Amino acid sequence: MNALSISGGKPLSGSVRVQGAKNSVLPILAATILTGEPAVIRNCPNLLDVEYTLRILRHLGCGAERDRDGNVAVSAAGMTGIGIPDSLMRKMRSSVIFMGSILSRAGEAVLSRPGGCDLGARPIDLHLEALRQMGAEIREEGGNILCKAARLTGCEIALKIPSVGATENIILAAAKAKGVTRVVNAAREPEIEDLQAFLNAMGGRVSGAGSPIVTVEGVETLRGAVHSVIPDRIAAATLLSAAAAAGGDVLLRDVRPNDVAAVLTALGEAGCSIGAEGASSVRIRSSRRPKPMGFIQTAPHPGFPTDAQPVAMAVACVADGMTVFRETMFEHRYNHVSELIRMGARIDVTERTAVIHGVPRLSGATVAATDLRSGAALAVAALAADGVSEVSGLEHIDRGYDTLEDTLSSLGADVRRVTAH
Ligand code: UD1
Repeated sequence: MNALSISGGKPLSGSVRVQGAKNSVLPILAATILTGEPAVIRNCPNLLDVEYTLRILRHLGCGAERDRDGNVAVSAAGMTGIGIPDSLMRKMRSSVIFMGSILSRAGEAVLSRPGGCDLGARPIDLHLEALRQMGAEIREEGGNILCKAARLTGCEIALKIPSVGATENIILAAAKAKGVTRVVNAAREPEIEDLQAFLNAMGGRVSGAGSPIVTVEGVETLRGAVHSVIPDRIAAATLLSAAAAAGGDVLLRDVRPNDVAAVLTALGEAGCSIGAEGASSVRIRSSRRPKPMGFIQTAPHPGFPTDAQPVAMAVACVADGMTVFRETMFEHRYNHVSELIRMGARIDVTERTAVIHGVPRLSGATVAATDLRSGAALAVAALAADGVSEVSGLEHIDRGYDTLEDTLSSLGADVRRVTAH
């Protein structure tokens, strides 16, 4: 088992490029099977979740290779499979995104319930309901979800929650469906816009992504395309939080400032000096102890992202006063709290509310990541702590961060990958 060994207390400085977005690349890779022509996806981060997705594609009979420059080439011409084995479904939540695209391509799909970060119940009722509305017959048998549809048919689908995954699954299913599909109360996350851009580059007719209504006019065929994924706003939020907690002067390159606006506002409250430098860079400077950030409530985009809540909480732990978080998206999204407390943080959790009384210094400790963003929060806290921390559970962090130790080391942090004790 691997861990990060982090010797904290050093300010960060320098310039670093933000990786491509994990949550964009996964649905985009699922979209590549909607054509038999080759597709090339650029700016793919080197992540375990991307590796799992490539394994799914290969299992389906597609060619899927990643080169050293972050380009993934997919050829789905020889796709023969319709199923994803349970072992791969359990690796990550977004494996469910393949339901719409396999169904569209093959007329049937066999999946099991997806795994992923343990954040509490993560139902897929909206995905199943929407595909049923589009004409799919879906039944569950022996732990499998069996879906069939000779040709999906477009319709109006009103989501009761603006689910990111359900919105993507519907768009993928609708791209080649008969007629027009309208998703009402669609998720507005930037990754939906990126999926729209890729599908339209393939010859699709998708519009409205980024707004609450997405319209998909089904087309007969899609072609191959080359597409570069957008920067990862959560990786950016992590690096910004690291600079806020540990102090320093960091320039992030390849970031879209608008995509991280809610996080920038919170870190501005924390007293950091933040400025966009050009259209795709953000500079953050933090020379003293962070100020408290008031009340942070997670919400669908453009609200404060649930995925950035853990790293922002690490900043709040060393702030000069009280910050209150309310988590609205997932029921178990405070896995990092007990570990932050081991480092000396003062946090009280009541149901979905966490009250953080900042302390002047955290102290290094041996802590365990139990999910992806909790792991990132522990790394951020360790950078701000006195002494050495060992963050185990690196396999969670590797799901979403492309060699986090290298990124942080390039900013002067003392971080090494070690074998956990
Ligand atoms: C995506 C992101 C994840 C992020 C989350 C919320 C990817 C690969 N993952 O996850 O990093 O934390 O958005 O921004 O993009 N829900 C239902 N029924 C459903 C689907 C969802 O009740 O069928 C609920 C969920 O339990 C949750 C809320 O809707 O409370 C939002 O979840 P959703 O947007 O679907 O998250 P994911 O797509 O799984």
